[in-house]
Amino acid sequence: MIGEGLAALPVDEKFEPNEKLKETWKFSVDNPEAFWAEQAKQLDWFKSWDGVLEWENKKARWFNGGKLNASHNCVDRHVATWRKNKVAYIWEGEPGDKRVITYAELYREVNKFASVLKDLGVKKGTFVAMYMPMIPELPIAMLACARLGAPFTQVYSGFSVGALAERTRHTEAEVIVTADGVFRRGKVIDLKGVVDKAADQCPSVRKVVTVERTKHGVEMNPEKDIWYHDAIAGAKERYVAPMPVDASHILYVLYTSGTTAKPKGVQVCTGGYLTYTCSTLRWAFDVKEEDVWWCFADIGWVTGHSYIVFAPLALGLTNIMYEGAPDHPDPGRTWRMIEENEITKFYTSPTLLRLLMKYGDDIPAKSDLSSLEVLGTVGEPINPEVWRWYYKVIGKERCPISDTWWQTETGGFMISPAPGIQLAPLKAGSATFPMPGIDPVVVNENGDPVPMGVKGYLIIRKPWPGMLMTLYKDDERYLDYYWNRYPKAAGDRFYTGDYAVQDKDGYYWLLGRSDDVLKVAGHRIGTIELEDVLVSHPSVAEASVVGKADPIKMEVPVCCVVLKMGYEPLPELAEELKLHVRKVIGPVATPAAIHFVGNVPKTRSGKIMRRVIKAIVDGQELGDTTTLEDQAAVEEVKRVVEASRAGSI
Ligand code: PRX
Repeated sequence: MIGEGLAALPVDEKFEPNEKLKETWKFSVDNPEAFWAEQAKQLDWFKSWDGVLEWENKKARWFNGGKLNASHNCVDRHVATWRKNKVAYIWEGEPGDKRVITYAELYREVNKFASVLKDLGVKKGTFVAMYMPMIPELPIAMLACARLGAPFTQVYSGFSVGALAERTRHTEAEVIVTADGVFRRGKVIDLKGVVDKAADQCPSVRKVVTVERTKHGVEMNPEKDIWYHDAIAGAKERYVAPMPVDASHILYVLYTSGTTAKPKGVQVCTGGYLTYTCSTLRWAFDVKEEDVWWCFADIGWVTGHSYIVFAPLALGLTNIMYEGAPDHPDPGRTWRMIEENEITKFYTSPTLLRLLMKYGDDIPAKSDLSSLEVLGTVGEPINPEVWRWYYKVIGKERCPISDTWWQTETGGFMISPAPGIQLAPLKAGSATFPMPGIDPVVVNENGDPVPMGVKGYLIIRKPWPGMLMTLYKDDERYLDYYWNRYPKAAGDRFYTGDYAVQDKDGYYWLLGRSDDVLKVAGHRIGTIELEDVLVSHPSVAEASVVGKADPIKMEVPVCCVVLKMGYEPLPELAEELKLHVRKVIGPVATPAAIHFVGNVPKTRSGKIMRRVIKAIVDGQELGDTTTLEDQAAVEEVKRVVEASRAGSI
């Protein structure tokens, strides 16, 4: 808890400390405008900006007056140089099929699809929704939208009808781009059927464009549906001029879970975001022209938006993109792909590493991993033992590990080692120091800084170019959650929702979420969102969801459910409730356990005491329970959880 001292931290001193990192950081926070103006020059601007930062009512407008286009920056400017024939994407399907796409090919496809969208009535400001798997048409569609100045929202293809419909409705998207299906662990997962059901609930949707991937036979409605390949073949124009947009024009809205039942629509700008993602990719991974970059994430999440699409393409890198599971058809798949493609920089999540680590060291030993130069992780704290395994068994003690801490809201890396500037000594499990321009501090409940070694809330004191502009259509929530938490504290303070501690050497250690958000296999899931879905089932009167520690996924949702009169707490009903959550949100949110109880523990003021329930499911000390309304509720949860652990119910 906040205020506790931290036990001894594991320290691996391997690299020499240096001054350059400190100097760069100091200059950047003392002179943010000069610093970021210099960084923005790495992009092509149709018109330069009038001012670097306008800061009003907690909203940043970076590079105001400047005009640019993200699609131009990601493709056109490379096609005008020798990079024309450089490989942009090496794509691998799960069954083993491959596509190699050069920048010139990417340019042609993006232009054709922009022409198709234009023909469908998409123009500057029209929203396009995407429900796409990891296939090249996804970045193509994102860039085609950006070309027209049309904001898009990509919905993770593991989400279900309810989640897709809610996001599509909220953006009032007029077109949905999808695929018939995707290959996952050797099976075909249908996507088009999900889109059909969602589109029926969204009056704004006029057309659905479907990429043919799995060919498993889907229904096509002649009024609404268009095959992607037919549309491309009939594209009227070979060149669609990139629309110059303001630096603060919306590039995309990406929904992420928060502390209420409604997901947050993180609204991202064009100029600041592109500048920030490019700079941070250079700093954290020291990227070079000849690199082969593999960000092993899904484009449905921010990691893929920033570091599979926008930053690596704007920097002209060669990317790997992979459709399927890391251990399919065998546990060596990921490591073989590193060997075959001579990957130099590899970036993924601790969950994926824990999954692959459990197969044993012999599996990676079968592949030649000597091309690797820098490794990275993201999405959750990395356990020191997993960090050491990554460092020794995968990186052979040669490759620094960039443990990048950031969020959907931040656009890009915030705290991370910076081998692209200078590498400070690494510590297993610490994200080390802030990126240039980022000014974090760890505070207590009142917003006052805590001493080193004391756990607190992580906040950021200065705006940075990658930061969200607001929450789409919800300025009030934006101000309330991120900025108004410490009304009495001086200055502007962005609340991150994470716990952190700074050790005696100034290193940052990220300690997980401090709000009602879970991290399940790196996916962000709101406990209140889950509770809302459970309560929408006719049998449920009340629900309380907490994260239970899990050796692979970090945490999994566990639910305490109070049934309505007339419903029996049967195992079949528990299964039905799990299925209900899967159907409404998606498989990522599936509860690991449903415990039926008569009451959930609450405070006297009626707040559910998730902390107490969590301690019970994790088998830990309950801590302070003096504010509890009813001790019997705690005893019951204990009894039910223990009985289920013992396998008696
Ligand atoms: O709790 C932090 C955790 O992931 C949260 C952000 O989740 P999301 O918006 O889905 O973005 C994930 C990809 C950037 C954070 O609030 N998190 C992310 N990276 C790390 C991390 N926790 C510890 N260490 C990290 N490197």
